[in-house]
Amino acid sequence: MTTAHITVDREFTIGPVPRRLFGSFVEHMGRCVYTGIYEPGHPEADENGYRQDVLALTRDMGVSIVRYPGGNFVSGYMWEDGIGPVEDRPRRIDGAWHTIETNAFGLHEFAGWAKQANVEIQEAINLGTAGVEEARAIVEYANHPGGTAWSDKRRANGAEDPFGIKVWNLGNELDGPWQIGHKTADEYGRIAQEAGKAMKLVDPSIELIAVGSSSAHMPTFGEWEYDVLSHAYDEVDYISLHAYYQEHDDDAKSFLASANDMDYFIESVISTVDAVKAKRQTKKQINLSFDEWNVWYQQRGDAEDQLHVITEKAQWQEHPRLIEDTYNVTDAVVVGTYLNSLLRHGDRVTIANQAQLVNVIAPIRSEANGPAWRQTIYWPFARTAELARGEILRTVASGDQFESKLYGDADLVDASVTYDAERGRVAVFFANRGLDESADVTVSLRGFTAGRITRAEVLTVPESGDRFTANTEHEQDVVGLVKLDAAAVYEGELKVTLPALSWAVVEVEVTEA
Ligand code: AHR
Repeated sequence: MTTAHITVDREFTIGPVPRRLFGSFVEHMGRCVYTGIYEPGHPEADENGYRQDVLALTRDMGVSIVRYPGGNFVSGYMWEDGIGPVEDRPRRIDGAWHTIETNAFGLHEFAGWAKQANVEIQEAINLGTAGVEEARAIVEYANHPGGTAWSDKRRANGAEDPFGIKVWNLGNELDGPWQIGHKTADEYGRIAQEAGKAMKLVDPSIELIAVGSSSAHMPTFGEWEYDVLSHAYDEVDYISLHAYYQEHDDDAKSFLASANDMDYFIESVISTVDAVKAKRQTKKQINLSFDEWNVWYQQRGDAEDQLHVITEKAQWQEHPRLIEDTYNVTDAVVVGTYLNSLLRHGDRVTIANQAQLVNVIAPIRSEANGPAWRQTIYWPFARTAELARGEILRTVASGDQFESKLYGDADLVDASVTYDAERGRVAVFFANRGLDESADVTVSLRGFTAGRITRAEVLTVPESGDRFTANTEHEQDVVGLVKLDAAAVYEGELKVTLPALSWAVVEVEVTEA
C-alpha cells in the first residue's frame, strides 16, 4: 500500500474551469467522418445521415467544442469543395492520408451535426496550399449575415442564419516537414498574421489560434513559437500544442509518467509566449489551445515514418480503416492524468481537444452498419467533463513517488480538484499510477466543511482481466466505472483507497467554512 496526501484551500484557486477544455476533434481521416459520425443508410442514422448512436455517446461524453476538418487533411483541403449540391461536389485526392475525399460531408453537414451534438464549432483553415483570400472568404461565408457574395451563397445553400463560428485554427502543424505546405516559422508567422488580420476584418469577434509545435520534441520547438508570435502576436489569441504518447517496449512506468512531459510542454510554451509579450511591452495575453492530445500507438518512432506507414496502407480508398487504436485500462489511467494536467493549467490552457472523436485514435468506436461503443478512455473524459465545474483549486501533493526512464520521477497518485460553489461540491479526480499497489489517499479540504459523498466511481483492472483489458465490438462494457466503496469523509478530510492502476472521481458536498 502506498500513501498520498493532497491539500487544497478554498482561497487558492487557479481560475474558472474552461468549458472548452473538454473539446474533441473530427478530421476527414479514416472512418472518423464517414461511418463514424456520418453514415446515411445506417439503421441509427437520421434523414441527414447522422448516426444517432454516435451522437448520443458524444453528448453523454460532455464534449464542448469540436475541431474540424483537420489535422493534416486541412492543409490540402479546399473548403468550397464541401458546399453546394452534393452531386456537384468534386471527388478529390487527399494527399495527407492517400485517400479519396468524396466531399459528401462538408461545412453545412458539420454545422448540422454540431447542433445536434450540442457542441461549439472550432474550424481549421488551410494555410498549407491556400492563403489569405480563402481564409477571408470562409469567415464571410460562415459568419456574415447576408447581402454579400459569400454570405448569400451560404443562404442559397440552405443556411439562412450564419453559423457564427467563433474559434478558428490558422492551419495545422505547419512546423512539420510532413505537412502539405510546410513552412519556416517566419513564413508561417507572416501568413498567419495576414490571414488573421483579413479574417478579423470580416468578423472582429472571432478568436484565432496560431500553429504551435507539433510536439515538444520538434527540433524547432521554442524558437518556432517565439518567431511565429513575433509576427502574429497582435492578430492571434491562442497558440496550439499537440502531443501523443504511448507505451514503448513494455516501459509502463514511463508511459504512466508521461503527463510530466505534458506539464513541461505547457509550461515551456507559457514561458515562450510570455517572453514575446514582455519583448513587445504589451498587456495582451496569449493563451494555449492544446488542440490535439491523446494516446496513440504509433508503429514507428518519428512522425514522418508513422505517416508513411499510414499512407502506404490507405492506397486511395474512400475512408479506409486508419489508426483505429484499441484502448486498455492503462491508457484510461494515463488519459486521466492528461486531463489532470490540463485542468491544473486551466488558467492558460483554455481550449483542448482530445484527438479524435470516433474510430481514429478515439474514445468512441463504431462499425459500418454495426454498433457504436465506448473505449476505456471515454470514461475519465466523460466524468471530468461532467463534474469539473466552477473553479480549479491549486493542489499541493506529497506522498510516494516512482521513477520513470523517460520522464523522471512522478507522484504515484496524481490529482486535480475543482470547486463548484453553485452546487456546493468539490470534485477530486485521481489516478493511481502504481501498477501493483493500492494507494491510501487523504485530501485535506481547507476552508470547507465536508459533508456527504455524492459520487465515488473508479475504473480499474477487472477481476477477469489484466491491465491490457479493453472494450471491443463484441465485449463492449468489460471496462467501465464502478462504485468506489473505499471513500469516506473522516474528521473533515476525505479518505480514499484507490486500487492499483486506477482512475477515480470522488465528489463531496461542501459548505465554505
Ligand atoms: O490526429 C491525427 C493527426 O495527428 C492529425 O491529422 C495531425 O494534425 C497530427 O499529426
